Amino acid sequence: MAVLDILRYPDQRLHTVARRVEHVDDRIRKLVSDMAQTMYDAPGVGLAATQVNVHERVIVIDVSETKDRLQVFINPEIVSYGDERSVHEEGCLSVPGIYDEVERPEQVTVRALDEHGKSFTLSADGLLAVCIQHEMDHLLGKVFVQYLSRLKQSRIRSKMLKLDRQTA
Ligand code: NI
Repeated sequence: MAVLDILRYPDQRLHTVARRVEHVDDRIRKLVSDMAQTMYDAPGVGLAATQVNVHERVIVIDVSETKDRLQVFINPEIVSYGDERSVHEEGCLSVPGIYDEVERPEQVTVRALDEHGKSFTLSADGLLAVCIQHEMDHLLGKVFVQYLSRLKQSRIRSKMLKLDRQTA
């Protein structure tokens, strides 16, 4: 296992659209394991392969308090959305220190493959539903700050570039 480097907004590579995984093999299981370690190390509750510059449809999530409930989603597809929408404060490992409110469907049903290539369907609400939608956005090249106003996006971009210069 390895801790991978996380791309930081406004890195253009975060806007790459990920492709489907054709075979869930040892290479993908290694990626899943490295992504999980990277997420726990950060620490964060979710990570998309896009964020570690691998442009394949793979997500890891763990919203448990105890950090021992890893959930893996390969080739995730939203089967249905609930009717209600709700606002949650979101953050992202690619946009450190920035938290803001995003409105999304409160409930989603997602179908995906696990790390053994087995298909499953899961209905989620609350934090897990937010996390699934946030990470699936990453696979489409979308970062959560793109839901915010232009002004906020430009402030966040400047702040991140300044942070990059400080840590370079
Ligand atoms: Ni994120």
